[in-house]
Amino acid sequence: MPIERFEKVFIWISLLLLEVFFVAVLVAAFFGGIQLPAPGGLVDPEQLANTPPFDQPGVRQVGDGQYEVVMIAQTWQFIPGEIRVPVGSTVTFRITSRDVLHGFLIPNTNANVMLVPGQVSEVTTRFDKPGEYRIICHEYCGIGHQTMFARIFVEPTASETQARAQEE
Ligand code: CUA
Repeated sequence: MPIERFEKVFIWISLLLLEVFFVAVLVAAFFGGIQLPAPGGLVDPEQLANTPPFDQPGVRQVGDGQYEVVMIAQTWQFIPGEIRVPVGSTVTFRITSRDVLHGFLIPNTNANVMLVPGQVSEVTTRFDKPGEYRIICHEYCGIGHQTMFARIFVEPTASETQARAQEE
């Protein structure tokens, strides 16, 4: 069966595009650190107050520059509502919902997961720039949805603060 010349060209272009997209996925996965969020386990949403680690939400240092943040989402807040970590930290968030479906998005990072009651969502991100970051609920969760957010303060290290003070 003869294939028309232009048709042949477009078949090759289509195949080439598929290759390009496939390579882009591999590059993102292996060099860009972009992955699907890892399943973090199951938990009874009614027993969070008695279930470690959710009985003590907060920030813990787990290694040099490594932090773990245990968080509870509920209508319409994140607990804790403020987190402080030094710049350069790698932070693993373990989050679950106490009531309904919520979202967890930190703009301009790879952190973007859904919070499903009964499940623990886990996501790890690194904060290389100091400043204030926001955690935003991006799943509609009721009348107060648009007010549901938390703050992350990524604080400059002592030496950076000194260097800045000297500049001024
Ligand atoms: Cu929580 Cu929207």
